[in-house]
Amino acid sequence: MNQTNFNRSARILRAVLFSAGIAALLAMLPLSASAAGLDNSGRQLYLTHCAGCHGTNGISAVPDAKDFSRVELMAQPDQNLLNVIRAGRNMMPSYLGILSDQEIISIINHIRTLN
Ligand code: HEC
Repeated sequence: MNQTNFNRSARILRAVLFSAGIAALLAMLPLSASAAGLDNSGRQLYLTHCAGCHGTNGISAVPDAKDFSRVELMAQPDQNLLNVIRAGRNMMPSYLGILSDQEIISIINHIRTLN
């Protein structure tokens, strides 16, 4: 094989590998999308239900929503936070019947990691 043919084969091989890579990535997309749909992690629940007001990073996005960076707030035991989240308070909606206690606890665990 002369140099020109070799270069051409190498280019073709690269193109084939590249398309195979793209195909593999595309094949994974529906999988990860459905995995995200089933994602019940505290982080995912937080992003779905709470981040609209409390911000992705726990810095409030609306007036009056509490910043989870406030130490006094997060020093409260899980049970207190759970009660507020279940019952709602003023502008904050109640999550009773929307989220299970177990889901609220995973959200609390997640917001304790924000600061
Ligand atoms: C519609 C906007 C909104 C949404 C959505 C929302 N919150 Fe709030 N949240 C607020 C506001 C406003 C306050 C302040 C309430 C007050 O004390 O008047 C608050 C307060 C809190 C507090 C502080 C309670 C305390 O002891 O002072 C916690 C904890 C909290 N929210 C958690 C959550 C969690 C977890 C979610 C999601 C499941 C959530 N919030 C969803 C608006 C919201």
